[in-house]
Amino acid sequence: MSPPARPRVWAVVPAAGTGSRMGHATPKQYLELGGRPIVARAVQRVASDPRVHGVVVALREDDAHWSAARPRLHCALWTVVGGDTRQASVLAALDWLVRAGESHDWVAVHDAARPCLRPDDLRVLLDVALADAVGAVLAMPVRDTMKRADPEGRVAQTVSRDHLWHALTPQVFRLGQLRAALRSAEDAGRTVTDEAQAMEDAGLAARLVVGHADNLKITHPADMALGEQILAAQGADD
Ligand code: CTP
Ligand code: MG
Repeated sequence: MSPPARPRVWAVVPAAGTGSRMGHATPKQYLELGGRPIVARAVQRVASDPRVHGVVVALREDDAHWSAARPRLHCALWTVVGGDTRQASVLAALDWLVRAGESHDWVAVHDAARPCLRPDDLRVLLDVALADAVGAVLAMPVRDTMKRADPEGRVAQTVSRDHLWHALTPQVFRLGQLRAALRSAEDAGRTVTDEAQAMEDAGLAARLVVGHADNLKITHPADMALGEQILAAQGADD
């Protein structure tokens, strides 16, 4: 029997949301930041590491914007139809990928709404994840004092920020394990908000890798100006 092929690295970009909090008729991933669609930047950033072999983008069924936004990449780029939740969109991409990849391949899941990912952060994340048994997520230690609110919106409790992190993307796991974890969440009617939560529910603990706060998720209208500033500060000419 031949030895198993060396694991490859794929990227999955869920881009099937409507961007309701942005309150714009065009889904936020298609708004232009620094003169280019947000999703085009996010896809290019997550494909910036030469180890990434191909990217799968999950789109809404009635998507009318992708063909104009599609970036040029050094690697393969495919699209699939996503679902009603981020989890369903990621799962649709993984269901497609199992036909191209192997269960032990790695998958880096990256939000279409994060166009400012630093290539250096991706490189370090992949270095850590690919050397780990489970995988790794980009994250930021919490720096503000944390409060739990009561139902009236008053401070009920101060929560220690020790060991508290903000989870960002990309999040990197084995294709087979991530697909199984998301599938079991989906089948049980549980909605997880990121891949690490699905893995955690399956008893698999991801490594936390310190990222940078400029890996902003464009969520509200005010984030557009901040995103423009970040791109300018990064000297982004891509
Ligand atoms: N996403 C997806 N499929 C969905 C919902 C979300 O692929 N059914 C994607 C979004 O396109 C985005 C990422 O998941 O790239 C993170 O989600 P979020 O920032 O919440 O985007 P939206 O769901 O589009 O925004 P909102 O929650 O404000 O509606
Ligand atoms: Mg959402």
